[in-house]
Amino acid sequence: MCSPLLQEPAPMPENAALPQPLHDALLQLLGPAGLLTAASDIDPFCIDWRALYHGKCAAVLRPANTEECAKAVALCNQHNVPMVPQGGNTSMVGGATPDDTGKAVVISTTRMTRIHDIDHADLTITVEAGVTLKAAQDAAAKEGLLLPLSISSEGSADIGGILATNAGGNNTVRYGNARELALGLEAVMPDGNVLNLMRKLRKDNTGYALRQLLVGSEGTLGIITQAIIQLQPAPRSRETALCAVADAKGALDLFAAFRKQDPSAIQAFEFMSGTSMALVNKLIEGAPLPLSEPAPAYALVELGSPRGDDSLRSLMEDVLGTALEDGLVTDAVLAESEAQRQSLWMIREEHAEAQKRAGASVKNDVSVPLAAIPTFIDEATKACEALIPGIRVAPFGHIGDGNIHFNLVQPEGADPKAFLAQDHAMMDTVAAIVRKLGGSFSAEHGVGQLKTYMMPEWRGGAELETMRRIKNALDPKNLMNPGKIFPAA
Ligand code: FAD
Ligand code: MLT
Ligand code: ZN
Repeated sequence: MCSPLLQEPAPMPENAALPQPLHDALLQLLGPAGLLTAASDIDPFCIDWRALYHGKCAAVLRPANTEECAKAVALCNQHNVPMVPQGGNTSMVGGATPDDTGKAVVISTTRMTRIHDIDHADLTITVEAGVTLKAAQDAAAKEGLLLPLSISSEGSADIGGILATNAGGNNTVRYGNARELALGLEAVMPDGNVLNLMRKLRKDNTGYALRQLLVGSEGTLGIITQAIIQLQPAPRSRETALCAVADAKGALDLFAAFRKQDPSAIQAFEFMSGTSMALVNKLIEGAPLPLSEPAPAYALVELGSPRGDDSLRSLMEDVLGTALEDGLVTDAVLAESEAQRQSLWMIREEHAEAQKRAGASVKNDVSVPLAAIPTFIDEATKACEALIPGIRVAPFGHIGDGNIHFNLVQPEGADPKAFLAQDHAMMDTVAAIVRKLGGSFSAEHGVGQLKTYMMPEWRGGAELETMRRIKNALDPKNLMNPGKIFPAA
């Protein structure tokens, strides 16, 4: 198959300011609160969470609703201005950061924050794209329901970003990724047309599943403006434990032991290496290790049930009791209160922040089949330590999903820039092992701009070509988030 290469966005004036007629039309449409052009206002939208990418943009557009968003997109399209959709700006792969030409506008959904409806019959929540995941979770919880998606960035990441990246996180092991939870969706397409797929149907076989095309498209096909997300009854009982294990194999054996008893009770099953845990204990205030001594690795297990009885407690105690007797688990702490549960989760959720504080790091958000995880960690650790002596290999992640954040932290005292200059060498070293084991180079964070270079080798041929054809058909001027997912032609 072959198709025309994606076009370069049409040239803009040298100073990269918005063309005056476009500026005036946008100001009239969005008002001063919806059009930011002062450098001090727009700079924060041009840097990613990891501060790896420092882009520029001509303006930040902040539409207050779908109609404003659609009109703004149509205007930008008419003037050939590239558009970068942005939600909470927590992308780990530079997905929401504009390039450094300053020609694009960032379209931020942060003013689209209405929660329209919580439906107890269909178990759904209907929200605008700019509602943070946390706000949506809280709204569901107030009604005795659970929005079953949980990620460490949920206070900032919003529903639009979550869907655009098909986010995973801590509860995927039980409820699936964002994709599995999205029943309905509305999006503004690159020409400004509104695609209304806001149906809350569990069964609807009427042609292509366009909502699923938008989910995971990383802002390259349109701007998600509203969604209908599936909910679950809130768990009435939960049991949470932090367990010391020998290694990833030990964590997987413990996972298998719980799964054998009752797979449907496992709400989360997370892995943390000793190296990564030590960074949290050292660099995050109020996060000491709640066990008597450090271990080579840890598993954080949470069981949940809508039943209010004590059957989960017996399940937890039975499995952990046997695991302690067998030496599979060497020490464990069970949360005895909601406050203790939250402290255990805080320790897990601060891993990304602790690694950020430890200096420069290179992230490998990979997945492999569960049985291959121990081999992957062993081989990748050896290969990275041989590549960069002193490197701190600090894996952790959603081991129940086969998703390891095989993160590499610079050697202590090393120059962060020199370390980051070797990012591709490290990523390629890890990727080669992932590939041999039948895995993926991006499990949940997406491709963004960080990993576009990997696409031809991993997804080349008919797969990438089909993606390009879809992109060309829906965005022939390549104005929607250019430079993301697709490698430069
Ligand atoms: P942004 O960062 O703003 O954008 C991400 C991508 O989506 C970009 O390509 C952007 O163009 C596009 N986009 C944003 N909004 C829209 C929209 N309305 N319509 C179309 N495209 C849009 N991810 C996980 O999957 N699991 C985790 O466990 C996890 N943990 C994290 C922990 C930390 C501390 C941090 C900083 C990040 C973590 N992430 C995780 C990554 C990140 O939070 C997710 O990718 C999240 O879904 C991004 O949401 P956002 O609103 O911040 O999107
Ligand atoms: C997390 O699960 O905490 C993030 O996705 C991981 C990361 O920092 O790589
Ligand atoms: Zn993660």
